[in-house]
Amino acid sequence: MQTENTLALPVGITLDRFIKSQQDAFPYATGELSQLLRDIALASKIINREINRAGLIDITGALGRDNVQGEAQQKLDIIANIRFIRALVNGGQVVGILSEEDNEITQTNNHYAKYVVAMDPLDGSSNIDVNVSIGTIFSIYRRISPIGTPATEADFTQGGRKQIAAGYILYGSSTIMVYTTGKGVNGFTYENSLGEYFLSHADIKMPKTGNIYSVNEAYFNEFPNYIKEFIEEMRQKSGCMARYIGSLVGDFHRNLLKGGIYLYPPTRKAESGKLRLFYECYPLAFVIEQAGGKACDGREDILDIIPQKIHQRSIIYLGSDELIDNLEEKIKTHNHLMIKQLELV
Ligand code: AHG
Ligand code: MN
Ligand code: MN
Repeated sequence: MQTENTLALPVGITLDRFIKSQQDAFPYATGELSQLLRDIALASKIINREINRAGLIDITGALGRDNVQGEAQQKLDIIANIRFIRALVNGGQVVGILSEEDNEITQTNNHYAKYVVAMDPLDGSSNIDVNVSIGTIFSIYRRISPIGTPATEADFTQGGRKQIAAGYILYGSSTIMVYTTGKGVNGFTYENSLGEYFLSHADIKMPKTGNIYSVNEAYFNEFPNYIKEFIEEMRQKSGCMARYIGSLVGDFHRNLLKGGIYLYPPTRKAESGKLRLFYECYPLAFVIEQAGGKACDGREDILDIIPQKIHQRSIIYLGSDELIDNLEEKIKTHNHLMIKQLELV
């Protein structure tokens, strides 16, 4: 089914032509966002090449130091970060970059550029050494700081609803780039021998419900009761399947196409969840909403969260419309009971 705001374009056209035709549909478009999307695609091709060679050259394994989150940086994390930053600096459309791997915003010195980019250059890094799918996540905002000056934190902390575009690249059994500019979601599969992305998944719509739940069940005992109950209910569904790669992009992409729910609830160790708001939660929430699914943290839609700091984490539930509704209902009932208990004290 084609949404009314998505251009009817045939599966098989190149990403470049797709971007161009989207741009042509807007008489005042300057082509800068189009160029930025091309730069991201180019960077992903370079990462794709590095990943495919990873077993042959000495770029797997840990680097021996931690990133700003206190997590061990893998060599490919760093390579992906450098490659992306370089592509965005050279492309000239970005004034500032917020990366999972860097404490501070990177200034590109393109002070006349209109956009800033938040990114997780390599997601699922613990899977690098064992040939399991990994990904890249990106999110684009129009800057609010004056043209001609460096980027500021305020350019990034505008809130998820201000994203101009967002998406991910999944380096899986094939490499696919999926993104939205707020007019539906499209996926482009990479054809290695031609070095091109081709439209393969036009106007992706997430199934209204699904049988898959994706959560790290090793933490089951640490989850709040409403999450335990929700998981138990999922398990009772006929045809229910538990699927958890431990690569958010991979888990997300599968559920987006097949229907299901991804959960990263609070645990005793991580009360605010684990995933990062700016370069994991906001962009995937934008994509899932555009595909007809939902994203929330149990209190509000992810895109409505008012951000506090650039590397903050968030609890996240990403899923088919009906499953998120069920979960929210459960959370509401739980909160209601809690209030009642407090009233009795
Ligand atoms: P990153 O590799 O960018 O640090 O992200 C890892 C994330 C995400 O990809 C994955 O879904 C999640 O961490 C897995 O966490 P657990 O091992 O706690 O399940
Ligand atoms: Mn990640
Ligand atoms: Mn990462």
